[in-house]
Amino acid sequence: MRIAVGSDHAAFELKEAIEAHLKDQGHEVVDVGTHSLESTDYPSYGEAVGKLVASGQVERGIVCCGTGVGISIAANKVPGVRAAVCWNTEVARLTRLHNDANVLALAGRFIAVPHALMIVDAWLQTEFEGGRHARRVSLIAEIEARHQPKADG
Ligand code: RB5
Repeated sequence: MRIAVGSDHAAFELKEAIEAHLKDQGHEVVDVGTHSLESTDYPSYGEAVGKLVASGQVERGIVCCGTGVGISIAANKVPGVRAAVCWNTEVARLTRLHNDANVLALAGRFIAVPHALMIVDAWLQTEFEGGRHARRVSLIAEIEARHQPKADG
């Protein structure tokens, strides 16, 4: 699978560990940064991963910041992105089964690397269930469409 990863400084080490883990499993990884522990701003990395996912250049995205929340909010501003903050493997599975989450968000300051890697694996290995959940996901897309800026003219 082709997967984009991104983080701010607070989750740089987690992002690096996830990238190595994904490559070990044979995935192709697009790393949008950050590339050091130097303080930086999470929104741009969330947007960069979100754009890659929404445009279809990658199949999934993984974003990490201190809590996982700020960068997920940023990624979710890109139309078509469904980013989900996950704190255990069951929540990760459910965000795939029920929400068709296409971006996983993780908290670098609150989840140990081995646990985070288990969450990544559970999330990547679970397919969307469809059925009644497809209708609900399409309702989310309708909300997004209703709030798109109108074209001029
Ligand atoms: C950075 O200090 C921190 O605010 C950021 O990583 C994230 O947790 C924001 O949601």
